[in-house]
Amino acid sequence: MSGSERVEGLTESVIREMTRKAIKNDAINLSQGYPEYPTAEKVRKAAVEAINEDENQYSITWGKQELREKLSEKLKNFNNIEYDPEMEITITCGASESIMSTMLGLIDSGDEVIIFQPFYENYVPSVRMASGKPVFTTIQNDMSLDHEEIKNTVNENTKMILLNTPHNPTGKVFSKEELEFIRDLCVDNDILAVTDEMYEHIVFEGEHISLASIDDMWERTVTISGFSKAYSVTGWRVGYSAAPKDLMNPIRKVHDYTTVCSPTPFQKAAVQALSLPTDYYQDMVDYYRKARDFVYDKLSECDLEPSLPNGAYYMMASLDNIDMDDIEYTDYLVKEKGVAVVPGSSFFEHGGEDMVRFCFSQKMEDLSEAMDRILK
Ligand SMILES: Cc1ncc(COP(=O)(O)O)c(C=O)c1O
Repeated sequence: MSGSERVEGLTESVIREMTRKAIKNDAINLSQGYPEYPTAEKVRKAAVEAINEDENQYSITWGKQELREKLSEKLKNFNNIEYDPEMEITITCGASESIMSTMLGLIDSGDEVIIFQPFYENYVPSVRMASGKPVFTTIQNDMSLDHEEIKNTVNENTKMILLNTPHNPTGKVFSKEELEFIRDLCVDNDILAVTDEMYEHIVFEGEHISLASIDDMWERTVTISGFSKAYSVTGWRVGYSAAPKDLMNPIRKVHDYTTVCSPTPFQKAAVQALSLPTDYYQDMVDYYRKARDFVYDKLSECDLEPSLPNGAYYMMASLDNIDMDDIEYTDYLVKEKGVAVVPGSSFFEHGGEDMVRFCFSQKMEDLSEAMDRILK
């Protein structure tokens, strides 16, 4: 497959395009996931200090040793998975780079990757740029998985399944039983798993379980997460992947020659982020829960039909009672009401025209103003 074929047909990110439209129309931006929960002072100060202390050059390409060690502890204590910080953890420029490096490192031309739709926008381009073939299975409206449909996606070309829990955009938190079903599928068919656990700290109902902590999954799983959402530092570009050495080696090669390293001062500050007390996480979840309930109640008052998410900070709303499709409605909302949201179809290979995604990670006064504008 040629380079141009790999990017042919890819469109620009719709979510990031909605941000540009929000700026152009002076609209409140409920499209891209900018977390407005305040960044902890200790963490901000650590970044400034790191710069002033001249931590301004490349770090070791796999990431600062102290950060990898601290992450290894966190993965053990919070995620219940053990990784060697020397060989099995790599700090990347955000989880986005981890996803891309994983695909470029592990996918061969024609390999199939099972993706749950609706999906986080970056997945499909990452698979396609690696010359792989995305194959889709749909999370049902009641958040259940269609086991038969998933089994039917598997064939001799299936290389990998890509999971995201808590899930963007539905807020689904995968249960232990569901993860065990995925385990059986992977083990029976010799499939690798990549799990994007970006929202692991934002869970309202249920509990976050890491796929790699399920029996027989550690050896076949790449675990991805990052600092953007949990510590409100999306601009810092610090994420990571963790995997057994044989899976990590090719990922590290891609990382080495693409980004060299994640920004050094922010890696230093990320060490401080991992030292925040447990109260920090509880307060953050309480804050987002309040925002979730507020937006849900307000959207329920108008003709939109929201679904209450169990995790992350997005809410899907149905347009069934509205005489517009997702593109028309998001266009109308940003231009006429001054509120930017994301068309549902951007999360699907096919479908999603009857829904839109609201992000509720913004400040309460912005959410309140946005809801007033919509309800008016
Ligand atoms: C599910 C998911 N994974 C990964 C990312 C990207 O995170 P990062 O900022 O670490 O690249 C996002 C960002 O919105 C996301 O929603």
